[in-house]
Amino acid sequence: MLTPEQARRWYPADDPVHGFDHVRRVYRMAERLARAEGADLEIVQAAALLHDAQDSLTGSEAQEGEKRSSHQLHSAEIAANALQAEGWSPERIAAVQHCIRAHRFRDESIAPQTLEAKVLFDADKLDAIGAIGVARALAFAISAGSPVYGRVSEGFLKTGKLERGETHSAYHEYLFKLVKLKDRLYTPAARSLAESRHALMVAFFERLAEEMEA
Ligand SMILES: [Fe+2]
Ligand SMILES: [Fe+2]
Repeated sequence: MLTPEQARRWYPADDPVHGFDHVRRVYRMAERLARAEGADLEIVQAAALLHDAQDSLTGSEAQEGEKRSSHQLHSAEIAANALQAEGWSPERIAAVQHCIRAHRFRDESIAPQTLEAKVLFDADKLDAIGAIGVARALAFAISAGSPVYGRVSEGFLKTGKLERGETHSAYHEYLFKLVKLKDRLYTPAARSLAESRHALMVAFFERLAEEMEA
């Protein structure tokens, strides 16, 4: 049994976006969804505690981007080592690894196949919408030196690639990813929790755009 206290060492305490506070919230939400959906609680708990373990490593900005795009794979490796040390069976380690590999929204090549993987995906995405989601999106933009708002091109909306002269903002992240999350959730328990979080987030970003363009 892996505890949240043991997991603390894999995460920075001062990262408002992917630090231990995020992991602790995902852990609690994943437990709640696992109970509602009848998923294997121990698998879900371990997967939640380890799902962003790779993010704790720091490096140059280029390395950061590279690491984020594959952090689900590296975190799955960290998970295997940690759970082997705890005496877990290979089958249950593989189940946790699948949850972790399938949690990244931008990587559709590995979709959640098990109930436990769906629960982790949903718990992680619920932490990206609502008031917390707004706070994290703003924190991410500000810590990256990016603006909170910028006009979004048609091209970006279609492909996610910035046009010449366009700067990535928190509003871009909202339109490209956050606004779509509600409809990508798998479990009924998460879908029902997502409704009011989604509505609050949409109201915030629409108002932000309105005030910025006034
Ligand atoms: Fe992640
Ligand atoms: Fe996460």
